[in-house]
Amino acid sequence: MQDDWRISDRVAQMKKSAIHEMTRLSKKVEDVAFLSWAKPTSDTPEHIKQGAISSIREGKVGGYSETAGLLELRKEIAKKLKRDNNIDAKVSEIIVTVGAIEGLSAAIMAIIDPGDEVILPSPTYSTHIRQVLIASGKPVLIPLIEDENYIWDIDAVKKAITPRSKAILYCSPSNPTGTVFSENQLRELAEIALKNNLVVITDEAYEYFIFDEACHFSIGSIPDMKRPVICTYTFPQTCALTGWRIGYLHADESLIPQITKAHIPFAICTPVVSQYAALAALKGSQDCVEGFRKHYCDMRNLMCEHLDRLDSVFSYQKPGGSYLMFPKILLPEGQDSLTFCRKLLREAHVSTTPGIAFGPHGEGHLRLSFCVSEEMINKAFHRMEKYF
Ligand SMILES: Cc1ncc(COP(=O)(O)O)c(C=O)c1O
Repeated sequence: MQDDWRISDRVAQMKKSAIHEMTRLSKKVEDVAFLSWAKPTSDTPEHIKQGAISSIREGKVGGYSETAGLLELRKEIAKKLKRDNNIDAKVSEIIVTVGAIEGLSAAIMAIIDPGDEVILPSPTYSTHIRQVLIASGKPVLIPLIEDENYIWDIDAVKKAITPRSKAILYCSPSNPTGTVFSENQLRELAEIALKNNLVVITDEAYEYFIFDEACHFSIGSIPDMKRPVICTYTFPQTCALTGWRIGYLHADESLIPQITKAHIPFAICTPVVSQYAALAALKGSQDCVEGFRKHYCDMRNLMCEHLDRLDSVFSYQKPGGSYLMFPKILLPEGQDSLTFCRKLLREAHVSTTPGIAFGPHGEGHLRLSFCVSEEMINKAFHRMEKYF
């Protein structure tokens, strides 16, 4: 009997995640310097924990909420979308989801028919590629222009349009490159989408982690794009809530019933205790978000200083956002990034993520996370300086 006995072609075609493989291998290494996971290592802020604890004590969390999420929470989300994203949202245009991930999956399921083509930047967040594959869609990967800090190649997007093109899906700031796509480029993408009747699905998980002169722009704020855009957001990355599994999406009212049809079989609703935690996050002080942003900016600068000292091993583009960067490996053995990362882990005890995990154009690179402590970054780079 083969391993893939009775497994759907949709799932069988997907390769195992190199990210999880590195996490698994890292657990076997004692005192590992860990730069391979894109999740905040900080604890959930106290006022958010208290919001959740009160909701449990008051007996509010034992049943399902409305499928779209608590009305009170959606009202707060609508205020946030206006304040921070310049999007005029009605509560009826919002669905609270199990992380940004479930919102993206539901959106993609609602939009994509088998064989439909979805345009993605490359490299990109590998989960997006898998979500398209699970919907039996066809990912069309458009290489980003690395030398210009991983910007979109707009002409290549135009050339990639076919009668089967259905959607464009991207994250900005980007995982893995940390690029914040500029308003100009996103307006150009919007024009392409409008001209070709495409849906734009965005993942804005890192919207608050923006450095220097970069600005986060939500394509959903363009008035003409109200109908064709589905924007997804999260609380986890912004408020250290990864384990609570909560995010939300905004879409035109006409799309919401269709996306809801996909959301229900995945989730019914988002865990209610997490919805109360998110409510406390939105109603309470936003200082924690600024605190995290400043920390990540400092850690990015520190990582760049270390990389400058290893300039015969890596070249890099300075990320304008997120807490991730994507250096190119200059050594010949870097052409096989998975082997390179495994060896670095085994021999130098530094855990990184191979670039190939983010699509074919990620090969020859590795992803480094700087959502860690200063000590962790110093430890990893002191080991690498010794090793190379
Ligand atoms: C670009 C991007 N989107 C979404 C997520 C996950 O978001 P959530 O935890 O809200 O599902 C991640 C996590 O690494 C990410 O990098």
